[in-house]
Amino acid sequence: MKAFTALAALALASSLAFAQSAATFDPAAKVFRIDGGHVSYVFGVNPRGELQQLYWGGRLGATDSFPEAKPMPDWASFDSSYTNTPQEYVGWGAGLFSEPALKVTFADGNRDLVLHYVSHSKTDDGFDVVMKDIRREVYVTLHYRIEPVSGILARSATIENREKQPITLEQVAAAAWALPPAHYTLNYLTGRWAGEWTLTQEPLHPGERVIESRRGTTGHQANPWFAIQEGAPDENHGEVWFGALAWSGSWRITVEQDQLDEVRVTGGFNPFDFGYVLHPGEKLETPIFYGGYSAHGMGGASRLLHHFEVDHILPHRAGPNVPPKPRPVIYNSWEATEMNVNEAGQMALAEKAAALGVDRFVMDDGWFGQRKTDHAGLGDWYVNPEKFPHGLKPLIDKVHSLGMDFGLWVEPEMVNPDSDLYRKHPDWVLNFPGRPRSEMRTQLVLNLARPDVKEYVLGFLDKLLTENDIAFLKWDYNRNWSEPGWDQLPPNEQKKVYVAFIQNLYSILDELHRRHPKVELESCSGGGGRVDLGILKYADEVWPSDNTDPFDRLTQQDGFTYAYTPQVMMAWVTDSPHWMNLRATSLEYRMLSSMQGSLGIGANITKWTPEDMATAKRLIADYHQVQPTIVQGDLYRLISPRNGSEFSATQTVNKDRSQSVVFLFIHSTQEGRLFPRLKLQGLDPKTEYTLTPIEGKAAEQTPATASGAWWMHHGLDMDASFRGDFKAAAFRLDKK
Ligand code: DGJ
Repeated sequence: MKAFTALAALALASSLAFAQSAATFDPAAKVFRIDGGHVSYVFGVNPRGELQQLYWGGRLGATDSFPEAKPMPDWASFDSSYTNTPQEYVGWGAGLFSEPALKVTFADGNRDLVLHYVSHSKTDDGFDVVMKDIRREVYVTLHYRIEPVSGILARSATIENREKQPITLEQVAAAAWALPPAHYTLNYLTGRWAGEWTLTQEPLHPGERVIESRRGTTGHQANPWFAIQEGAPDENHGEVWFGALAWSGSWRITVEQDQLDEVRVTGGFNPFDFGYVLHPGEKLETPIFYGGYSAHGMGGASRLLHHFEVDHILPHRAGPNVPPKPRPVIYNSWEATEMNVNEAGQMALAEKAAALGVDRFVMDDGWFGQRKTDHAGLGDWYVNPEKFPHGLKPLIDKVHSLGMDFGLWVEPEMVNPDSDLYRKHPDWVLNFPGRPRSEMRTQLVLNLARPDVKEYVLGFLDKLLTENDIAFLKWDYNRNWSEPGWDQLPPNEQKKVYVAFIQNLYSILDELHRRHPKVELESCSGGGGRVDLGILKYADEVWPSDNTDPFDRLTQQDGFTYAYTPQVMMAWVTDSPHWMNLRATSLEYRMLSSMQGSLGIGANITKWTPEDMATAKRLIADYHQVQPTIVQGDLYRLISPRNGSEFSATQTVNKDRSQSVVFLFIHSTQEGRLFPRLKLQGLDPKTEYTLTPIEGKAAEQTPATASGAWWMHHGLDMDASFRGDFKAAAFRLDKK
């Protein structure tokens, strides 16, 4: 007993050691070391004065040390030491052939930039390291901060012009990460409207893989996240290095395997059409590029990210150290009514939603201006008097009287040419004077970089929230940029729009948060077009896709969770057959597909039968009981739905391992094959867990209660009746 206590104390002490961070500088070797969680990150000043990356990976021993950084040698006369050496933040100059972190044109036409270490200051959880060009007064401060539990590192840079003339920044990364030569698999997320979150896994080859958005916003087509695994893709084992950019504008991440097989990942503002003029004395702050490491495969990497996002990225509305609660179960009117909203119709939906046990009623598009179709109204944010003759108050009161809070759809950055706003201010949109203005969904993008537009947007949102008891805004954004002109600025400065627009978006969100701290937000962009760690500092949840087909959602949700926590992953149950694939599925299947994230109902529930209502009510009640485990627990993707898999399954385990929830799905049973025995993960082997079905039946011989070891080693067998097309089952396991 005594020995056990000593051992337990030792284990606790060592786990506490990993929940601490340390930042140390060895002045003799000029080596910086940052430790946090199970991670160490090391870089040094080499004899030339460059900052050179030395190590990124599993946490090293406290007494381990590094000698002074030694630059890589020249590789023949074609590849200089400068280009071969993995630098922390390299300027384009001195014969660099790999991706620069910073590329500059000086006022006299000189474009050579070579950054050397100048000084540093230490913080509790990292360093600020100052670099400077070897001749010119251009300073770059690199910021490093490590999060003590996850070991996730936040890196960014501040560029400062102390020259007497302006300089133009043509390429500005937030950070660059480096890995030594090895066989790697690159993971990244791509997609399109209604088809977001496709996980691509491919061997890393020599050359450069570019993941980017040139669209002014994050984009559906690629997401600013990457993961690199050593060896073949593996969910449960192996080393994974991952990163995500906190930026909602045009972005780029390049993954290069260079001429010596070293890997570099450089990410930040997209250099396409970029040109940021920095006047004497001015600074530019880059977004943050987060980076992390896990020794436990892709599953381990995403679990680290999920907890980091909940604990350190998402808005903490109840106080700085109070992580967000699971999301309310919502009802959203979009698929039921589209823009055909009115007081009576919304009240009828609200009554049905309340009967189901929904917590929040959200009225979507159509309530404002002359909005009957998507051809008119955007920009005119007054309540439509024909649809809501007494304003929004009667509907909001009704929703409150039913025990729910009220949310509303807005699309603040857009305008329809058919609107009072556009008739009054045609110059407020992104445009090149004298050129056509390309419409998409018959709308144009307001130039939020303009101070007057920023004031207008902040003003109407503030008024809306002040005059109405609104708990939640669904903030939509339904097109990408075209003709991104900003003719208020001198011609050579107009490209600043790529940065200023997003900075103003963030500052509006900041100010709204200050004035209306309780109002929650969803980031939506025609589905998942604006999901990134930048917007998630302001948004409590995101809309992953307009495609709510429950089967398609399984793969989308699988992809989504590689980068983002289920806490923010809204998932609505909509009608069957679904408009996307004309696929019919049972309500149970649709409910269980959505219950893996933050649940919502988006169907026309006025048409639901009493049986449908009873099924949804029962499952919403079940969901409420286990929701914290599902959305904030450790997620294990047990069987992937990708690549046409016949089966799929996910499992979540709460923090103290007292509860777990398992979801199982069958695409189409073939040749009578039963669902494979499902070995669970993450449980405490010694704890006894009781299995309770939420939906479906386990095999008859399944014990009612068994140890974590039993569920993990023996596994769960399903009843033979679990066969067919689009079948779903779910179970909870509770500590006995
Ligand atoms: C696109 C969103 O993704 C939908 O959910 C809906 O809000 C429509 N816009 C409304 O126009």
